[in-house]
Amino acid sequence: MRRAKISIIGAGNVGATCAHWAAAKELGDIVLLDIPDKEGVAKGKALDLFCCSPMEGFDSQVIGTCDYNDTKDSDVVIITAGLPRKPGMSRDDLIETNVKIVRSVSEQVAEHSPDSVIIVVANPLDAMVYTAWKATGFPTNRIVGQAGCLDVARYRAFLAMKIGCSIEDISALLLGGHGDDMVPLPRHTSVHGIPVQELLSESDITECVERAKVGGGEIVKLMGTSAYYAPASGSVQMAEAIVKDKKRILPCAAYCEEKYGIGGFFVGVPCVLGSNGVEQVIEIKLDEGEKALMDESISHVKDLVGTVVTMFPDLA
Ligand code: NAI
Ligand code: 2OP
Repeated sequence: MRRAKISIIGAGNVGATCAHWAAAKELGDIVLLDIPDKEGVAKGKALDLFCCSPMEGFDSQVIGTCDYNDTKDSDVVIITAGLPRKPGMSRDDLIETNVKIVRSVSEQVAEHSPDSVIIVVANPLDAMVYTAWKATGFPTNRIVGQAGCLDVARYRAFLAMKIGCSIEDISALLLGGHGDDMVPLPRHTSVHGIPVQELLSESDITECVERAKVGGGEIVKLMGTSAYYAPASGSVQMAEAIVKDKKRILPCAAYCEEKYGIGGFFVGVPCVLGSNGVEQVIEIKLDEGEKALMDESISHVKDLVGTVVTMFPDLA
């Protein structure tokens, strides 16, 4: 049986860590690509990772490159190429530079892996997913953004810390864009089936919700650049669902028309992820408060895409 091929564009912190998690899970052969100036970095990290295989026991090729021919016919491409934010910057401050990068990368991916599913990671995420869609012309099911897996994992991690229970028992849902207005949903959060409201006070839940919303910023302040272990873990969780056709239900930035009243944008919603990428978007009923928060988040995503289109009218 042919092994899956996973290409990761950008061999920086998130990209190299995606390669690490994907190799550890033996998801398939891995190609780590960066710009020509960083060819040595991509090759060096790939070789270093491959040398773990005798100890970790994975049978995956791992190669580094700056040549898109090496990515040819990938099943999944994870786009991490782009600047990360520095302290004091919001994700939105990266828009102009990262649109240019994600656009040129996406064009190359479309040429070399026309049947791939693309997972976009570069920020500002919701605008970069849109950019990749426009630049590739791919059907919407084969373009998806990573944000919700990370954001809901942070929310779950903070709840587990607060309750003092295993992270495995926390199940939660989160919607919206990858901004500080993302929408964690306490009404759909449970601890081994027990509604979270029975275990934590409203103020404790609010504290976890608010910390999740600014969880990325908390790490930027601590280390001067953005997080990468959990973002890469979220990206590889999605890649795994796709290459193994698992039909997992995960929160992803997916294209929606009528659902949630989104009207033709990529926003974080629960999706069924399988070998065809986003195979279904699940719409749940929101109460008035949740709907107001979701509408605010959708409106922020629309503003971001509006900025992209104003700066780059041919991406309209
Ligand atoms: P990094 O600076 O460590 O790595 C970025 C890499 O992209 C660099 O090696 C750079 O040379 C490469 N690159 C730049 N232009 C390229 C091009 N045209 N082709 C190929 N490679 C290119 O940054 P890091 O920390 O890996 O973050 C990458 C992106 O992911 C940033 O935009 C960051 O904001 C975003 N991010 C998104 C998250 C999410 O949840 N969606 C979470 C964390 C980061
Ligand atoms: C994060 O949430 C910066 O998007 C990145 O960590």
